[in-house]
Amino acid sequence: MKRLLVLVLAAAVWAQEDVLPRAEPCGRQACQLPSCRCSGTDIPGGLNVRDTPQFVLLTFDDGVNVGNMVTYRNLLFNRRNSNGCPVGTTYYINHEYTDYTLVNELYNQGLEIALHSISHQTPDTYWKEATYDDLKLEFGDQRRQMSHFANIPIDAIKGVRIPFLQISGNSSFQVMADSGLEYDCTMPTINQINPGLWPYTLDYASTQDCVIPQCPTASIPGVWVLPMVSWVDLSGFTCSMVDSCFSVPPLTDEEAWFQFIITNFERHYKGNRSPFGFYVHEWYVSSYPAIYRALERFLDMVNNLQDAFVVNSAEVIEWVKNPVPVPEYRSRPCRSWVPTACPRQSCGPLTSDHNVWGAYWMQICNTCPSTYPWLGNPLGQ
Ligand SMILES: *[C@@H]1O[C@H](CO)[C@@H](O)[C@H](O)[C@H]1NC(C)=O
Ligand SMILES: [Zn+2]
Repeated sequence: MKRLLVLVLAAAVWAQEDVLPRAEPCGRQACQLPSCRCSGTDIPGGLNVRDTPQFVLLTFDDGVNVGNMVTYRNLLFNRRNSNGCPVGTTYYINHEYTDYTLVNELYNQGLEIALHSISHQTPDTYWKEATYDDLKLEFGDQRRQMSHFANIPIDAIKGVRIPFLQISGNSSFQVMADSGLEYDCTMPTINQINPGLWPYTLDYASTQDCVIPQCPTASIPGVWVLPMVSWVDLSGFTCSMVDSCFSVPPLTDEEAWFQFIITNFERHYKGNRSPFGFYVHEWYVSSYPAIYRALERFLDMVNNLQDAFVVNSAEVIEWVKNPVPVPEYRSRPCRSWVPTACPRQSCGPLTSDHNVWGAYWMQICNTCPSTYPWLGNPLGQ
């Protein structure tokens, strides 16, 4: 009995330390699509620039609520690309104060639901030091939580963006591999923006610059990195989220903002067509009507281009796995999804140990939890 215990303990210690294989330099012979891609600025499939679709990734971070939903409905619902397919957007959603009935509505529009953690807690050193176990609770559990309360298929949830863009080495990518998550969109690049870095896998060592350390150095097959290719602001400084750009046009100058967006877009469109990100928080575009209108004009312009497409981030990963030239891409059927119902419930007041000051009300598509869902108890059972 005692011996068994020792064995069990030894196994537990071993599992904890669980040293990952170090990523070796990437060789194009060994690493091939669809399951492996070396990091680089080369166009997937060796396509020519003019045969390559220019993907535009519009993403929004943080909670979904009745306020920001107005922007999403007005800006995106009923908007189509030039191939007749509805546009895509990706929402990196954190749990607290999210209205899950609205998440269900976004999903039913064919937009992409992705993860941004359960707690989104401060300070950012929490994320920097987060262990595998911490991140399993934040993202592995959030995948189940999102699927449960918004009543959407778990397989539809593929992407992750870590709060404050603060990764902690290998651990989040390990969690992703173990939780069935497919891609991460957290890591900015400022060195590979012209030409821009295309998405790649972590089977082999990455050549991406590590803007916010620690970056992954282990071999973690099956996980994709969708690099956040930075913008360049008016003073020549880089920024990975549009609302973090420092030197920007006057916030009331629509025309100057339109030009600012176009200048950054053209670095991709006239370069190697690496996916162009418009990564932002909704408050930024709703607070400044001139920026909203500039974004709307930009989307109108892209929707009139024959070789540019506003899509969900997961669709870019799909395309990179199986790259096809523009004419073939255009002739494909639009993405499909199975709409799901939302048996609407308003639940509360619910209490939580992490916040002793107040009670929560949750809007969900399921039966009410008995306590406020949080780390370690994602379904609030
Ligand atoms: C990631 O894994 C590699 C390979 O095991 C290791 O050398 C490196 O120190 C790890 N990084 C961190 C931040 O733990
Ligand atoms: Zn956030």
